[in-house]
Amino acid sequence: MTFPAGSLLTARDLRKAYGPTTALDGAEFSIHPGEVVAVMGPSGSGKSTLLHCLAGIITPDSGSITYDGREVTSMSDAARSALRRSEFGFVFQFGQLVPELTCVENVALPLRLSGSSRKEAERTALAWMERLEVDELRGKRPGEVSGGQGQRVAVARALVTNPRVVFADEPTGALDSLNGERVMELLTDAARSANAAVVLVTHEARVAAYSDREIVVRDGKSRDMERVV
Ligand SMILES: Nc1ncnc2c1ncn2[C@@H]1O[C@H](COP(=O)(O)OP(=O)(O)O)[C@@H](O)[C@H]1O
Ligand SMILES: [Mg+2]
Repeated sequence: MTFPAGSLLTARDLRKAYGPTTALDGAEFSIHPGEVVAVMGPSGSGKSTLLHCLAGIITPDSGSITYDGREVTSMSDAARSALRRSEFGFVFQFGQLVPELTCVENVALPLRLSGSSRKEAERTALAWMERLEVDELRGKRPGEVSGGQGQRVAVARALVTNPRVVFADEPTGALDSLNGERVMELLTDAARSANAAVVLVTHEARVAAYSDREIVVRDGKSRDMERVV
């Protein structure tokens, strides 16, 4: 079994159970550098579990995940955390901003954690906030901004380290359709201009329309139509 040449992140035959519940039952996945792939499927089908496995947040019971030629499942916890910090960015449905920090401090946080000075981190953070059209919110705390603005701040934070893959799990799930579309437009434009790949989990067809390709998950099984069999 081979995947198309040039895949950045691939998964083969992933299996994961929670007690009696089978969350993944032979899931397949691949993404190329800079590609936006939508992971579609009904609630409970295993989309979030697949994303968490791909991002090295949880380890599957069996199967293989390869990132840039390295087997993720056999890495140490420390190596996997380092990979997440340096190569990946994350956007979740809600609640991922630190409420005590201002928006610019939130966006700058990943850079501060990897050793950048405050000044340098905030300068880079502001450039991303301008890109996402939320720079005017720099001094506000997450509790003082709207849901759509908060998600755009979260997207800026996901991109601030120049990740090669952004994992987004239902990033517009808590937004109305107008704000959701704006977040998707800005997220995909910004990721494409930074040549970051996006793994976009959603159950909404209008969100998936922003992707280059779709992978459908059903009952823990996903078929990657890109796969060469
Ligand atoms: N931490 C967990 N503990 C127990 N069951 C879980 C856990 N995470 C997911 N599941 C179960 O695994 C299945 C797939 O869940 P999930 O990946 O969250 O689906 P989706 O994101 O498509 O809604 C569901 O039946 C869910 O209840
Ligand atoms: Mg989910």
